Amino acid sequence: MKKGKFIVFEGLDGSGKGTQIELLTAKMKKDGRRVYRTAEPTLSATGGLIRDVLGGFIQRDAYELSALFLADRIFHNINPLNGIKHFLDQGIDIVCDRYYYSSFAYQGKDAVLDWVMSMNLDCPEIIRPDLCIFLDVDTESCDKRIEDNRFSREIYENKAEQEKIRKRFFEVFELLKNTENIKIVNASRDISLVSADIIKIYESIKEI
Ligand code: TYD
Repeated sequence: MKKGKFIVFEGLDGSGKGTQIELLTAKMKKDGRRVYRTAEPTLSATGGLIRDVLGGFIQRDAYELSALFLADRIFHNINPLNGIKHFLDQGIDIVCDRYYYSSFAYQGKDAVLDWVMSMNLDCPEIIRPDLCIFLDVDTESCDKRIEDNRFSREIYENKAEQEKIRKRFFEVFELLKNTENIKIVNASRDISLVSADIIKIYESIKEI
């Protein structure tokens, strides 16, 4: 059986991933594809430990946090009930909100980037996506979206951090440009224009 496609969305907090994931998965389903939508951190126990840190309830350094994200990601790949591998093997497409690129940009900003990258990329249990779509929005607009839509901010959700994270994303994409399929989409435009670009990108990989 043909394997499913594995598509990841990345972007800063407030870049509109949720909206664009919704539009793409609706289009994929309309095309008759079976799609499983998922996200990191997951809803596992490790995901809970991570959310305690993101919410600022518990403090951990970037190395501890990288290791927690790694453990959560391995679980996300291999768990037999709703793991990424399980679905891809059945021909089901995966659309995932964040993946290892976020670890590289968020934790790789405070921990040694090579270490964060190699423990993810060299782990045999962690599947490489077929496509990563990065929704590029300037930090000013992301900050406004967070301000308008949230009652509280997580540890990374301030402008100074987001500037550093955005810079890290671009450094990482440069490092991965020959080994990963990463598409940067200008997401500061009208929702429907951004969605049309994303659907074009998806159409270019869906039959490969
Ligand atoms: P996010 O997609 O913003 O979810 P929510 O809607 O719950 O805020 O992701 C949560 C945060 O986790 C986000 O700030 C990025 C961070 N993150 C990392 O720092 N490293 C990682 O490896 C991943 C997957 C996420």
